[in-house]
Amino acid sequence: MKKMSMAEMLSAAEKNNCAIAAINASNLETISAVLAAASHCSAPVILQFSPLQHAAEDISYREVTQLAELISLRYEHGAYVVHQDHGESFEDCLNALEGGFTSIMYDGAALSYEENIANSARVRAVGKDFFLESELGVLGAECSEQTGELDDTAYTRPELVKEFVERTGCDSLAVSIGNAHGIYKREPKLRLDILDEIHAVCPVPLVLHGASGIPYDHIRLAISKGIRKINFFTQLDTAFMSAFRTEADKGAYMMFAQGAGFKAMTEKCEELIQLCTGGKIKC
Ligand code: 13P
Repeated sequence: MKKMSMAEMLSAAEKNNCAIAAINASNLETISAVLAAASHCSAPVILQFSPLQHAAEDISYREVTQLAELISLRYEHGAYVVHQDHGESFEDCLNALEGGFTSIMYDGAALSYEENIANSARVRAVGKDFFLESELGVLGAECSEQTGELDDTAYTRPELVKEFVERTGCDSLAVSIGNAHGIYKREPKLRLDILDEIHAVCPVPLVLHGASGIPYDHIRLAISKGIRKINFFTQLDTAFMSAFRTEADKGAYMMFAQGAGFKAMTEKCEELIQLCTGGKIKC
């Protein structure tokens, strides 16, 4: 299985009018599930790892890079890149770069517009050669804690996009168009009208976070309107955990419960990889 850069992957997605699935993983079973699925589909996948996962599992960026490299040797087909998800500080981002990640996200969405730009630009100026994802707008989950609703200020404002990308120097842009992390409290309604406006002015590929729970036909529509990277976590976590629990509840040894989790997550990853690429990129 080959390594690909994020730039190569997203430009292949652009050329083929499809997207690349970006899936969070943080241990042997989940990293194996993501890479096995990409190999079974002969497709590219983005393997993501966040500071939250780093803290929860006490596994370093370097170890994730090495584990992915090692597991990828099992497979002939497919391609992957390791990407940092939601670096919330300059130090988070440096940690990922020092751990061999070639693609990172600086997430300053909770800050003011100017602070978000200043911090993204500071990360950009580190001087290494890497791919930078930044975020403009506030995702639904963060917003609903305050108001229970997405208000207008939470959506990415299309009129700010060009300036934001120019001043941050980011290589891709995560947008807020009605998407939220975690389990949706009601069926999400993506604001595809806002996505159209963003796409018309944005010079870099667009990223959709919080894709678990968004109906597949909405995801396909979002892809047709320029989304090129799609982030999934909760759906895979649920697939793994419910298979794991079923085995554990039967009194199975840990290895069998983990094996069942791995299998269920691999199958769900395959479904999502196919949903995003539509079989258009073979590697
Ligand atoms: P979900 O957990 O909602 O799929 O979101 C994942 C995500 O956006 C990671 O950045």
